[in-house]
Amino acid sequence: MILARTVNEVKAQVREWKSQGLSVGLVPTMGYLHEGHQSLIKRAVAENDRVVVSVFVNPIQFAPNEDLETYPRDLEADCALCESTGAAMVFHPEPEEMYGDDFTTFVDMTGVTKELCGKSRPTHFRGVCTVVNKLFNIAMPDRAYFGQKDAQQLAVIRRMVRNLNMNLEVVGCPIIRESDGLAKSSRNTYLSPEERKAALVLSKAIFMGERMIKDGEHDGEKVLSAMRELIESEPLARIDYVEMVKWDSIEIHHKVDGPVLVAIAVYIGKTRLIDNFIAE
Ligand code: PAJ
Repeated sequence: MILARTVNEVKAQVREWKSQGLSVGLVPTMGYLHEGHQSLIKRAVAENDRVVVSVFVNPIQFAPNEDLETYPRDLEADCALCESTGAAMVFHPEPEEMYGDDFTTFVDMTGVTKELCGKSRPTHFRGVCTVVNKLFNIAMPDRAYFGQKDAQQLAVIRRMVRNLNMNLEVVGCPIIRESDGLAKSSRNTYLSPEERKAALVLSKAIFMGERMIKDGEHDGEKVLSAMRELIESEPLARIDYVEMVKWDSIEIHHKVDGPVLVAIAVYIGKTRLIDNFIAE
């Protein structure tokens, strides 16, 4: 497996693969890889001749008060996981390689980025869209893989690819969970043992909301208030949002009369965790 640190190395290698008629899959990540990321890499390996995994903690998607400095990193373990899962290349640039001193171009999206995480993190999706666009231009993938764990991000990237006529297919992959239900996340490492137990309230609320809709509840308000009540019963939890929106336009919509995304963001102590389900 190749470890590339520069844009030019990736471009040259991908051109070489393309000249041999090989297809390329891209899995963009911020590293500290777990089975959630690995499920995306596995799927990419199954569907493409060569797979590039980018490992880049993207500074421009973090606000100044967020966890850029403390975001967990372990390149050696990430490379081992990528290699054993069948990736052909890990792309791990330094921020200077991605954003020279003259960086002034951003991809900005309206509408889909307004609610949920876009509301709590107003500059986040501009940073995500910009870096993902760069990664697409660098790795020139036939397919790119994103998890439903970040459902709004998946909707945003799909919209960007469609709106800007990008030449690739976006593949969405299901949420991978710990055996007790907690959605896997690199940020789970921030949790103390006590907080780790409290964090289960997210998946409990998700499963409860999902069950209510499966059992025939179509009133969004009822589903959301039951979920809020459950989360508020956990003393270490503080709700950022508990919302129902149309999938995949991400407009607030409190009626289950078509595909809806029910998404939550909850602080457990200082750690902000997200989870969601899609129902109809
Ligand atoms: P990161 O949080 O590292 O996630 C990389 C990809 O892995 C995302 O598509 C995310 O949805 C997926 N993922 C994370 N946890 C998952 C889980 N438990 N189950 C399934 N998929 C999961 O998302 C980012 O990085 C960044 O915003 C990025 C797209 C790389 C741009 O910087």
